[in-house]
Amino acid sequence: MDAVILVGGFGTRLRPLTLTTPKPLLPVGNVSILARVIAGLEKAGVTRAILALGFKPQPFIDAFPGNQCGGVQLEYAVEPEPLDTGGAIAFAARFAGISQTFIVVNGDVLTSLDVSTLVAFHKKNAAEGTLHLTPVEDPSQFGVVETAASGQVTRFVEKPAPGETTSFNVNAGTYVLEPSVIERITVNQKTSIERVVFPAMVAQGTLYAMPTRDSWVDTGRPETYIAANMSTLENVQGNKLVHAASRVAATATIEQSVVGPLCVVGEYSHLSHSVVIAGAEIGESAAIENSVIMGVVGSTAQLKNCIIGADGVVEPGEVLNNVKRPDPEGA
Ligand code: GTP
Repeated sequence: MDAVILVGGFGTRLRPLTLTTPKPLLPVGNVSILARVIAGLEKAGVTRAILALGFKPQPFIDAFPGNQCGGVQLEYAVEPEPLDTGGAIAFAARFAGISQTFIVVNGDVLTSLDVSTLVAFHKKNAAEGTLHLTPVEDPSQFGVVETAASGQVTRFVEKPAPGETTSFNVNAGTYVLEPSVIERITVNQKTSIERVVFPAMVAQGTLYAMPTRDSWVDTGRPETYIAANMSTLENVQGNKLVHAASRVAATATIEQSVVGPLCVVGEYSHLSHSVVIAGAEIGESAAIENSVIMGVVGSTAQLKNCIIGADGVVEPGEVLNNVKRPDPEGA
């Protein structure tokens, strides 16, 4: 079966990290988000994945030598300009000549969903499209989906006010679609699948949805990106992951953190609840908490809730709280 993976977004909420690395190529537990997504698809029987790309295609091409990830063959559909989710799906599907039922996933969602169960649910209902739903505690910031007992979607409620809906299920970013959905989208026209195509399908009764309680995280915000990394530490000895190809001083202390390859962590530095990404350099006696570091942190600096991109430099002795560097507003 074929899958289209949406990876062409700007990843603005994860800037400055995404100024140099597209969001799906950022690591979670030292494996890229995208490689994790593809591994999940392979388990469900996907043999070909089309990456729907626009912004920064080259890093994706470089990341998968031989255009292969595990047993999945990769193809790259590069949009001339960002076409939004629906336009991107249609562009990629047409590019790859998809003519049978296919899967679509957001390239930044990590879930333990067995996608083959979503395909089976889709076929049983003879649906035109089927969404995976996940429950959230506070749906006020999400697109909530209401369904009938059959699974047929009856209504979308975008960012509901209290009392506006009794559903806590939100669109979880994995879809099974029939090729007829592609025909609903005008060639090379910017189109949102969530806001334009799905509501039209609801009106015609052809859209279904399946809620599950699988683990699920949209890695697109700093807190959720850190949380996704932390979840890879469960059951890991010492509650930390330090890549063998990094240089961590023996006197440095690392608690609940992930350190990627080719990183340097200086003497007496302390990391907690943080992610240090390939190539980052942390000087001596620095203290880093709940932060993501891709750039350079000078000695004795103290960072809390910070995001330091590849081009970010923290001077020795700086004390920073809630800082992004380089400042994405000025980028
Ligand atoms: P933010 O800018 O932080 O909102 O992140 P984002 O750009 O990734 O947007 P969002 O998380 O809403 O996008 C959902 C999925 O669709 C992600 O996997 C994006 O990569 C992808 N996406 C969004 N817009 C486009 C587009 O125009 N083209 C393609 N190919 N993918 C897109």
